[in-house]
Amino acid sequence: MKTSFVVVCMLAVAFRLAAAVVVPAAAPYALKVGYYNSKCGNSSVESIVNETVTAYLDADNSKGAALLRLFFHDCFVRGCDASILLDKSDVITSPEKAAGANIGIAGLDVIDAIKAKLEAACPGVVSCADIVVFAGRDATRYMSKGNVYFDVPAGRKDGLVSSSAEADSTLPDSKADVAELVAGFTAKGFTPEELVILSGAHSIGKAHCSSFKDRLTAPSSEINASYRDDVLNKICASAAKANPTAANNIRDIDAATLGSQLQGYVVPAGGGGDLDNSYYKNNKNNVVLFHSDWALVAQSSTLKHVNEYAANGTLWNSDFTSALVKLSQLAMPAGSLGQVRMSCRAIND
Ligand code: HEM
Ligand SMILES: *[C@@H]1O[C@H](CO)[C@@H](O)[C@H](O)[C@H]1NC(C)=O
Ligand SMILES: *[C@@H]1O[C@H](CO)[C@@H](O)[C@H](O)[C@H]1NC(C)=O
Ligand SMILES: *[C@@H]1O[C@H](CO)[C@@H](O)[C@H](O)[C@H]1NC(C)=O
Ligand SMILES: *[C@@H]1O[C@H](CO)[C@@H](O)[C@H](O)[C@H]1NC(C)=O
Repeated sequence: MKTSFVVVCMLAVAFRLAAAVVVPAAAPYALKVGYYNSKCGNSSVESIVNETVTAYLDADNSKGAALLRLFFHDCFVRGCDASILLDKSDVITSPEKAAGANIGIAGLDVIDAIKAKLEAACPGVVSCADIVVFAGRDATRYMSKGNVYFDVPAGRKDGLVSSSAEADSTLPDSKADVAELVAGFTAKGFTPEELVILSGAHSIGKAHCSSFKDRLTAPSSEINASYRDDVLNKICASAAKANPTAANNIRDIDAATLGSQLQGYVVPAGGGGDLDNSYYKNNKNNVVLFHSDWALVAQSSTLKHVNEYAANGTLWNSDFTSALVKLSQLAMPAGSLGQVRMSCRAIND
């Protein structure tokens, strides 16, 4: 640790004790379930997160997909360290959130609201990195109607580094084939099966046309031609706005847009919107949005898992749970410094 940095820390300690603690993360922080129990006066940290997430999702459940993706995109790049939340500043010249791979990233308002409540209850105690993970976990519970719910360990610190270039080189590309996807997930300690399991998150949410423009002209061996021409091309040709969005899951595209062309498609009982194994069923029918989704059925090693999860939703719920707990444990690079930020959008002075 440089001397000047220590001096800055000491000044910061004088200014605000808890928020100024900066510790090296040579080894991953020891995370544990219930880490914040009795650390926030009489307030329950996890209940405050859960209540806030629930209130936001009751008002607009598109935030559920946003919070799940935020969890993934934070943890995949430099570990779960809230690096995705940092705004551009003198020290963070091109933050992760400015990366092309982070197009459409949302839910940041929910994180800000949670942080404000927690700072009011116990200043400088709860890291933004833990908030992102708790909120992702609670959004997952909400979107899966309680089918995917788990205790998640906490005690993460917030990182001091955020780079759009690093996000773009680390996050998966929607045009990727299986080999590239497997390589990217292997680098983070995930098996090809876990790649398939985690991709099931695309049963909810939406994407910009720019994220699947290759699919608008893909051969009919790779995408249902009617889905491509009568649904996706129509949505993307809409002059209403630049770069429109389409639901990731055909289930969630409104009947008027689907029109008569896809009448063979049956909306599952219980309506739309749920985080479930419908992604795998759609994938077997070549009705998924991204090339990276379709790529999983194009190779037998991953196709066998697609088949497995299409056939058994309970199995997917439980394996998705385990994969998310594993995702939550990705640590910052060895030697990284950590702190509890006062604002999730900026490192402490
Ligand atoms: C396997 C490689 C993956 C690729 C290539 C990929 C790519 C993408 C892209 C391009 C979008 C649309 C962004 C936009 O245009 O606005 C998206 C959306 C989304 N992704 Fe992924 N993703 C992958 C894996 C994951 C994983 C592992 C998760 C979570 C566990 C996830 C969760 C989501 C969610 C929930 C959305 C919808 C976000 C919203 O509606 O706000 N994705 N993904
Ligand atoms: C916690 O609650 C007890 C009982 O309601 C109260 O006496 C105490 O002052 C509270 N402590 C804090 C830190 O709020
Ligand atoms: C979160 O809130 C939901 C209701 O919105 C509730 O069913 C669930 O038990 C809560 N979880 C925790 C950990 O408080
Ligand atoms: C595309 O999907 C529609 C609706 O499910 C179906 O009727 C049609 O047979 C599919 N086309 C192909 C080539 O699979
Ligand atoms: C589906 O998976 C669950 C959980 O692993 C298992 O208990 C159940 O037997 C499986 N169902 C079928 C039909 O294979």
